[in-house]
Amino acid sequence: MVNWRDVWERKGRVEVDSYDLETLIALDGFDVGLGKLGGSQFRQLAAMIVRTLGLAPGARLLEVGCGAGALLACLLGFDVELLGLDYAESLIEHARRAVPKAVFEVAEATAVPFTADAIVCHSVFQYFPDLSYARRALAAFQRAAPVALILDVPDLATRDAAEEARAAAGSKPGEHLYYPRSFFATGEVWTHELQSYAQAPFRFNALLRFE
Ligand SMILES: C[S@@+](CC[C@H](N)C(=O)[O-])C[C@H]1O[C@@H](n2cnc3c(N)ncnc32)[C@H](O)[C@@H]1O
Repeated sequence: MVNWRDVWERKGRVEVDSYDLETLIALDGFDVGLGKLGGSQFRQLAAMIVRTLGLAPGARLLEVGCGAGALLACLLGFDVELLGLDYAESLIEHARRAVPKAVFEVAEATAVPFTADAIVCHSVFQYFPDLSYARRALAAFQRAAPVALILDVPDLATRDAAEEARAAAGSKPGEHLYYPRSFFATGEVWTHELQSYAQAPFRFNALLRFE
């Protein structure tokens, strides 16, 4: 089994020349293989997040698993207060320099040290060790905010096709955790719709309102 925490910690242990969006996207792991995403797709995601959550001006938005802050950098243009957490200290150090207006903590998804008006969690649940950990993360989200938007979750119903596509793109098998849509049964679930994202057919999003 992959020790994802070490992988992400190592990923952040690099010097970078600038904190432009492409650099942040690469630090966050979207520069290779099937998971490749570009700046315009990140900006589309940011707009979709604000629209879907219906955030009021000045709302506190927490990104769980924010990495080096690629998504938070795209959210800077919106009238929201930004918070971020990630368990990889090396990535949080980059995020602090890249998005100085946001407030960051090094923490696990199961121990959220903030309260917020909403949580967004993009492309993180696949790295959790098991469904029990994911359940504890959702309980922590519920304690921290009234609503959580969880994006880019591997869909168990498409696992074979997803693993085949990932293998063709050079990834090792069995590295990601897949979820039945019923895991998020208390929320609204829909297929990832981001244009030209190669993993979109194998991923879904979930909007959970806790109140
Ligand atoms: C693919 S990156 C996505 C980063 C960011 N959400 C984005 O969209 O640019 C996954 C991130 O999730 C973080 N992560 C994975 N599992 C985590 C956990 N259990 N607790 C906190 N962070 C976690 C990793 O350290 C990494 O920064």
